[in-house]
Amino acid sequence: MTRLGVVGYGRRIHGMIAGAFRQIDADLRVVAIVDPDEAAVRERLQECDRGDVVFYESIDAMMRGARLDAVAVGTRCNLHAGIASELSAFEVPLFLEKPVAITMDQAVALEHAFDGSRCPVVVSFPLRVSPLCRLARQYIEAGAVGEALHVDAVNYVPYGTGYWEQPYRDFSVTGGLFLQKATHDFDYLMYLMGQSVTRIAAMATRGRIYGGDKPAGLRCSQCDETDTCPESPENRRRNGSGGTLTDHMCLFSVDCGTGEQLNEDCSSALLEFADGSHGVYSQVFYARRDAGARGATVSGYAGTVSFDWYANELKRVRHHHPFSATERASGDMSHFGGDIALADDFLGVVHGTRCSRTPIETGLQSVYACLAARDSAAGGGFVNVRQVGAQS
Ligand SMILES: NC(=O)c1ccc[n+]([C@@H]2O[C@H](COP(=O)([O-])OP(=O)(O)OC[C@H]3O[C@@H](n4cnc5c(N)ncnc54)[C@H](O)[C@@H]3O)[C@@H](O)[C@H]2O)c1
Repeated sequence: MTRLGVVGYGRRIHGMIAGAFRQIDADLRVVAIVDPDEAAVRERLQECDRGDVVFYESIDAMMRGARLDAVAVGTRCNLHAGIASELSAFEVPLFLEKPVAITMDQAVALEHAFDGSRCPVVVSFPLRVSPLCRLARQYIEAGAVGEALHVDAVNYVPYGTGYWEQPYRDFSVTGGLFLQKATHDFDYLMYLMGQSVTRIAAMATRGRIYGGDKPAGLRCSQCDETDTCPESPENRRRNGSGGTLTDHMCLFSVDCGTGEQLNEDCSSALLEFADGSHGVYSQVFYARRDAGARGATVSGYAGTVSFDWYANELKRVRHHHPFSATERASGDMSHFGGDIALADDFLGVVHGTRCSRTPIETGLQSVYACLAARDSAAGGGFVNVRQVGAQS
């Protein structure tokens, strides 16, 4: 039996445990939990975990009392760095949700905590380990584009309403959508290009669509505009436009935040890589239905490799030979096959058969890039990206 402890047994980590983790290791059991909302967690737990699980008051008490083989951290974003820092003192493999930190102070403290630590970490970056992204990297490594000079990446998020109608709209918890969303994309872009982002200039447009002056606490069930509002459950159902189809918090309420404490409707970043090559990335949160797109195009003198996770397709073009190829991936898997790959990595680390492909350094380097993007969007101009291992 694999004995798993969980800090923050919320929706995402429950989904990973009940789905991908158990597909890889049917003998996995949740035996210890630290979470202040015990009642909600007990509702969520699978039958096989309900009998033996023990709730602990603190991480320290759990680590000393529960004889764990592995720990997973599924709290909200603002708590990841502090919890992971505490767990770095133990040698128990850690599955850590992203973003690994939401401020520079948190990220630097986390980096210091892992300096010399023997705690192996799998950061929850499904895109980097997804089969389509790995295939693209393999072609690039094999010379499909020659020297990679440029990357262009997009994320048209068709489920973006969640960042205004759910608790994810709380900026003090998420740190904004570069950290919440682009942390995945900056990570896989660094993987594809085989190097770190060193400089960023970014822009964010906010308050043009979501956010607004509707009263605090407003829900559709109390609103007299549901006939005309495209976000009401009845109009979403009628239009097939996605999002929560039951009563939900208003996306145009003062609760969404103001000024720079409001999630952006869309944002973009100009990225410089360590060798001087560059790229652009855009994320758009009001896209709906078939507008969903996420992927990248990497090019060099010899060719172009591009892929899109929604289309589940990769294209290769040889610039100087009359051949082009399109490859289609089969299947319809969670996070495009990335979640099962992450689970395989994590349980491989736990059982000593694998190394992490998303160690703590990848989480930190991505956070440093996101923080530079957030600073640039707020202040204008290029911002240097702190590099993991740099002196404070
Ligand atoms: N990797 C991915 O692709 C991916 C996808 C979705 C969400 N996420 C991340 O997962 C994280 C959790 O999101 P969620 O939607 O599951 O949230 P959630 O609110 O459902 O879960 C958070 C849990 O943490 C618990 N908690 C709160 N304070 C705590 C504390 N001090 N100590 C221990 N537990 C505490 C809550 O009671 C809750 O059970 C977020 O950071 C989000 O960014 C990642």
